[in-house]
Amino acid sequence: MYASSRIDLFADAVLADPYPAYTRLRELGAVVRLDAHGVWALPRHAGVAAALRDPAGYTSERALALTDRINDLVLTDTVVGTDGAAHARLRRVLSRQLAPRAVKSLTAGLHAHARALVDTLPRGEVFDGVADLAAPFVSGTVMRLMGLPDRDRAHLLDLADATFDTFGPDNARTRAAYPRAEEMFAYLDRTATRDRVAPDSWLGAIHAAADRGDIDEAQAVPLMLSYTVAGMDTTIHAITAALHSLAAAPEQWAPVRDRVVPAEAVLAETLRLEAPIQWFGRRTTRDIRIGDTLVPAGDQLLLLYGSAGRDRDKWGPDADTFDLARTDSRDHLALGLGAHQCAGNHLATLELDAVLTALTRRFHTLAPGPDAPTRRPHNILRGWHKLPLTAA
Ligand code: HEM
Repeated sequence: MYASSRIDLFADAVLADPYPAYTRLRELGAVVRLDAHGVWALPRHAGVAAALRDPAGYTSERALALTDRINDLVLTDTVVGTDGAAHARLRRVLSRQLAPRAVKSLTAGLHAHARALVDTLPRGEVFDGVADLAAPFVSGTVMRLMGLPDRDRAHLLDLADATFDTFGPDNARTRAAYPRAEEMFAYLDRTATRDRVAPDSWLGAIHAAADRGDIDEAQAVPLMLSYTVAGMDTTIHAITAALHSLAAAPEQWAPVRDRVVPAEAVLAETLRLEAPIQWFGRRTTRDIRIGDTLVPAGDQLLLLYGSAGRDRDKWGPDADTFDLARTDSRDHLALGLGAHQCAGNHLATLELDAVLTALTRRFHTLAPGPDAPTRRPHNILRGWHKLPLTAA
């Protein structure tokens, strides 16, 4: 016998507020069969961490998304969808650009960019934390680092969001996203060519790796896709989730404003509470016993990062509360762990730091706007679609 549930994690109502479903799954067991999707769920912090620490037992290959179509068409030859030597070869291509020292060298430019955007925000009047701040800041940063033309920013943001949506089960939302994921490949294929991207950009570095023979020519576009998709909405959702929590809790905004709490700590607690990527899949490579259940080799599991961050066994009775005084937020799993741990975590921290620094220099208070923020249901990402705020 094993624990099972009929919860559809991709129903609109569940996506709007997945936390009651996650609580139920954590209560049911360390691993739960999801009848609606024909896969297992790992809802607890300990189970997700154990799977991430064992990439030999839990492969990412043909395992990340819920349909074969996307595992084969979109994820083949991506950093996130390969393992072992193939993964190391792909990950190495941009490791220098994303290392702490290289990211640190971007500090002045990113802070200036954030300051310029924050200077346009109206004092004491409503602005949208997504459209007026986080989205232009993050997408502008990524486009510049990639070496892509800024005029394509909004188009690429849309394509990146859709590409993530295709990771879902074979439902209407997934199918609606297919054409835009295909357009993402087509866009990179026709726009990110050798003659068009700057040689010192990320995409220039990917072409150089192909020219040296470090990667195959056919791997260049999937590798570009890895970074274009991974670096956009994830960070926009992280920044806006942080702003939402801080605006709702003036006593937590104050130490951030006074630079007592660093951006790194704000990011960790934000990601624990609201993982921008709610789950990724894995597949067992051997029979694995999880609690009392034997999961057979070849089965697929969803690693529920969003649920792991709310697990009371790990975080205590206040797991659902944003609390910058926590000392253990860094144990969150929302950036993954081990071999596939997020390659962009230093950049994401710097981006949040730039936004918070710019906001706290100009404004003393941050508060929710008069209208409630809104979300759009998404198969894998969780974040604000519109986030009305005021600052003075
Ligand atoms: C706060 C924002 C971000 C979040 C929440 C996030 C989340 C994640 C997660 C959960 C993984 C692990 C995948 C797995 O376990 O299979 C990951 C991997 C990855 N992330 Fe991020 N990410 C963020 C920002 C970024 C940025 C800014 C970039 C762009 C440079 C980026 C690039 C990547 C790449 C390339 C991988 C694959 C690493 C590998 O498989 O070796 N991420 N990210």
